[in-house]
Amino acid sequence: MQHSRTDSKSTGIYSRRRFLASAAAAGCAAPALLWQQSSPADPVSTSTGLAADASPVALPPLPYPPDALEPVLSAETIGFHYGKHHRAYFDNLLKLTAGTSFADKSLEQLIVATQADAVHETIFNNAAQAWNHNFYWRSLSPSTTTPNAPLRAAVARDFGTMDGLCEKLAAAAAARFGSGWGWLVADRGKLSVISTSNADTPLTRGVTPLLTVDVWEHAYYLQYQNRRAEYLGQLIGKLLNWEFAAANFSRL
Ligand SMILES: [Fe+2]
Repeated sequence: MQHSRTDSKSTGIYSRRRFLASAAAAGCAAPALLWQQSSPADPVSTSTGLAADASPVALPPLPYPPDALEPVLSAETIGFHYGKHHRAYFDNLLKLTAGTSFADKSLEQLIVATQADAVHETIFNNAAQAWNHNFYWRSLSPSTTTPNAPLRAAVARDFGTMDGLCEKLAAAAAARFGSGWGWLVADRGKLSVISTSNADTPLTRGVTPLLTVDVWEHAYYLQYQNRRAEYLGQLIGKLLNWEFAAANFSRL
């Protein structure tokens, strides 16, 4: 059952129709299939930017079936991205940390312990990529979601409109040279859009991530080949989980 929406001109509530009208120019399109999540979007962040609950070094299940994000992301794309790439980061971590002082640490602890540490760069890269991907899957939703009132107010204050936010997120992610990530983050309550390179993560920057989009080629190449902007337009226009972002924002 589709969530109801109200026109933003009369209520201030974000209007998907209005966003899509302008987002279409940036490559976004109409909403995809709807699917009710089995559980609400759990917040991740604390005021420190680290996860409230430690993330074990184990691949978590996808929060939806692998074909639930079609047609934007095909089951084949998810199969390779989640089943091969994401899984490999965990497999690598277990091998790298077995029998060392890093064994049995959470992803967050590994990231903090190895950041800016050239000796343990490989552990950092795999831990950060594992964490970033955990966050990425939860940043997407097959069902239509909307930001709550506090997040909408913050978006209005810091970006003007939801359209403005989405356009800046798409632009920042599209402009990332090589591989990396686009993020909506909060810094002491103020929202901003950043991008990070390769495995880098906002967790090491003292800001709180609210949403992310993956712009490693493995995230989109099977379907979109070199058309990163098209992938971003589809992803941002149809799949971003604003309830997850709002839940993270509420923890600030
Ligand atoms: Fe990825």
